[in-house]
Amino acid sequence: MFRSLLGAIRTQSLQRMTFQDHFKIIFSFVPQGTLAPIVYKEKRAFTSYEGTKYILPSDELEQERLEKQHRIFTRAFDNKLVLPPVILKNGDKVLDSATGGCSWLLDCMKNVPDSVEIYGIDIETRLFPATDCLPDNGLQLCEVDLNSFKGGPVVDKCNALLTALCDSKGLLVDIASQSPEMLLNAGFADVHVDCRSVPLGKWAGKYGEDGGSNIVSVWKGMKTALMTAGGLGFVHSEEEYDKLLEDLNRELDGTPGAQIALVTIYAQKSEY
Ligand SMILES: C[S@@+](CC[C@H](N)C(=O)[O-])C[C@H]1O[C@@H](n2cnc3c(N)ncnc32)[C@H](O)[C@@H]1O
Repeated sequence: MFRSLLGAIRTQSLQRMTFQDHFKIIFSFVPQGTLAPIVYKEKRAFTSYEGTKYILPSDELEQERLEKQHRIFTRAFDNKLVLPPVILKNGDKVLDSATGGCSWLLDCMKNVPDSVEIYGIDIETRLFPATDCLPDNGLQLCEVDLNSFKGGPVVDKCNALLTALCDSKGLLVDIASQSPEMLLNAGFADVHVDCRSVPLGKWAGKYGEDGGSNIVSVWKGMKTALMTAGGLGFVHSEEEYDKLLEDLNRELDGTPGAQIALVTIYAQKSEY
């Protein structure tokens, strides 16, 4: 179906999905709509896409965070949207799977000829913006390596909490480190991993401040999932969780060296 395809997937603990699943979603593409009713919990909006275990919200706040995170990601990788050398030709197709607010896709559109078709798919189209390469069959994944989140004791607690939350929902917390092997097992070859550390906190200027606030917002976005799971022994009330995130913010701002790694993984497959 796709003569040449460059897939960009930036997910954060994405559930496993087959390409067939993704293609199904392409065909039910609903710009600025929703594929399933939105569920409101604790003033945040969440997708209710059948079978999803996705824990982050799908609302305006998250849309803003994703746009900011995209800028951080792009800067961390030297303003490159695609790491491997790519020459997109007439008729090539690009897939941005789990496109969210389409930030990567829209930037990509500005940099490729009009004759290249770019597709964005997601289980929730509510994050879509308000406007309407690999050699052949390449794939690029962009992940936050949640195992690499370093700071002090509050960061350690947040890491443990996230691991427990992902375990409780059957999500892969270490998708960044597992992806290369998963790609090899799925028949991809020539797997490359490029990892960049991003500083977190005011000690690292505006870049660090943005990185820190992005990470704190990720943990804020997980509040509903955590409270629904009863706090998992880490917190016992919303107030306690809010206080933990204030402490996290403070710790990042005051801990030179606080960081997290962003990982881009790319590979090739000759046939699907
Ligand atoms: C953290 S956001 C990343 C969005 C975008 N790629 C970016 O980097 O800004 C993850 C996105 O994955 C979507 N998602 C979650 N599970 C999915 C699945 N199984 N298939 C497709 N999209 C999925 C969510 O709706 C959300 O928009």
